[in-house]
Amino acid sequence: MLPEVVAHRGASADLAEHTLAAYELALQQRAMGLECDVRLTKDGELVCVHDRRVDRTSSGTGVVSTMTIAQLDELSWGDAQPGVLRLDTLLEMRPPGVRLFVETKHPVRYGGLVEAKLVALLARHGLARPSSKEESPVVVMSFSTQAIRRVQRHAPQLPTVMLVGTRMVPRIGDYLGPSIERLRADPGFVERAGRPVYCWTVDEPADIRLCQQIGVRFIATNKPAATLEVLRGT
Ligand code: G3P
Ligand code: CA
Repeated sequence: MLPEVVAHRGASADLAEHTLAAYELALQQRAMGLECDVRLTKDGELVCVHDRRVDRTSSGTGVVSTMTIAQLDELSWGDAQPGVLRLDTLLEMRPPGVRLFVETKHPVRYGGLVEAKLVALLARHGLARPSSKEESPVVVMSFSTQAIRRVQRHAPQLPTVMLVGTRMVPRIGDYLGPSIERLRADPGFVERAGRPVYCWTVDEPADIRLCQQIGVRFIATNKPAATLEVLRGT
């Protein structure tokens, strides 16, 4: 079975990250999953922005959590996108059969509000109580054990990815999420993980082949089309 190819921030090697256009391109490129980061605005909207600040990815400056959704909408994001991408919009555009991997950022700062809002939004979309974790259209991810525990408490049926950089591996999370750097240094990680592995961010052919060889289940990449070509040997 091929690893599931997950478009990291959309087809973000080709188009501006976390824009609708980048996600639409990822679907055209036949990505099986979409990854996004979420943050809360000052007035409580969940928006798809990676950094704490808007400076790198928009025409403006400032900290996301101190800005309102109206302020974020005044900026341009990427080439053509007016307005910031809401998680709600991404949930609307997700076609059936495509999995959405949502990463909560800075979960400690908000004392659990991000996870509570996320689960409430998923519930509104009928996605908080999947019939099985395996079939769930949404997976929630975090580097924070606290955030993963909160998601488990609010929505026990939702699958979670415990993201791990170089630190020790916590026992919680349905899936484990090491970086590709970690798997390069320690390919035996996958066999020892005891649960399926989600690896990020995998763009180089040699790394894609390594992931396939060692049995990585989900590959997050900025280049979905090129990754699928490598996996299919074309
Ligand atoms: O998919 C997980 C990966 O995105 C974590 O790192 O910094 O790209 O959010 P980052
Ligand atoms: Ca991320």
